[in-house]
Amino acid sequence: MIKKCLFPVAGYGTRFLPATKAMPKEMLPIVDKPLVQYAVEEAAEAGLSDLGFVTGRGKRAIEDHFDVNYEMEHQIEGTGKESALEGIRSLIDNCSFSYTRQINMNGLGDAILKGETLIGDEAFGVVLADDLCIGEGVGVLAQMVGLYRQYRCSILAIEEVPHDQTSSYGVIDGEKISDNLMRVTNMVEKPDPKDAPTNLAIIGRYILTPDIFDIIRGTPPGKNGEVQITDALLSQAQSGCVMAYKFKGQRFDCGSVEGFVDATNYYYEKVYNRNR
Ligand code: UTP
Repeated sequence: MIKKCLFPVAGYGTRFLPATKAMPKEMLPIVDKPLVQYAVEEAAEAGLSDLGFVTGRGKRAIEDHFDVNYEMEHQIEGTGKESALEGIRSLIDNCSFSYTRQINMNGLGDAILKGETLIGDEAFGVVLADDLCIGEGVGVLAQMVGLYRQYRCSILAIEEVPHDQTSSYGVIDGEKISDNLMRVTNMVEKPDPKDAPTNLAIIGRYILTPDIFDIIRGTPPGKNGEVQITDALLSQAQSGCVMAYKFKGQRFDCGSVEGFVDATNYYYEKVYNRNR
């Protein structure tokens, strides 16, 4: 079964400058927990415990977060503050963490290809930490792992977005399999609303079969001169099978200031206050 998950975290996060000048975007907290920890928790919940990160310059705080801090932890030992570290300690105890670097930020497709060394020849999950997802019942990645068991092909999480926002997403079209599932037949990266085949946008959750690495290797740079995972996935859909899954739950685009603020308000009201 799927055990590995890749977290591409090499992007510059320019929409959050100056906050991201010396700090990774993925370490921005939603209330009291960094985005990347929510992402790792979702993967662990789905049974993926072998975690690989594609990092870049200035991202070392992510590695430090998934490690112990002896001095500080010794300092708060036996105090009420210790309980705040229970979640992260459990992740550290139950998962393995490996890292590789993307040297030039040539796009998400390129970042995923750089992760090949951590993944090898097996199906794997991909989580973009700046899309914060709250699954209905179970997490979004866990929902997708269930589908992978059934279909054994790449699976993309999608959601309906307002038509005028298609130019911010990879957009798919396909044949309906059931209410929540489509077999992908077409895909366009960041289309103008007038050229978008649908308003079904790919969000930051994927399950990919390992043939994707060779496909990415053969994919020339696309939109914005970057190697686009959408282009590689279209080739995969044309030669094999790619499914698009309308997940059950809610997504916050924490790569944008508006989505980040919405997620903060949601967590403060629904989760943080309840847990105190
Ligand atoms: P984004 O499109 O959000 O780019 O990438 P970004 O650079 O992080 O943010 P802005 O637009 O400058 O504010 C989506 C995901 O893909 C990763 C990012 O880290 C993010 O999780 N990514 C993107 C890479 O790892 N490498 C890349 O070359 C591009």
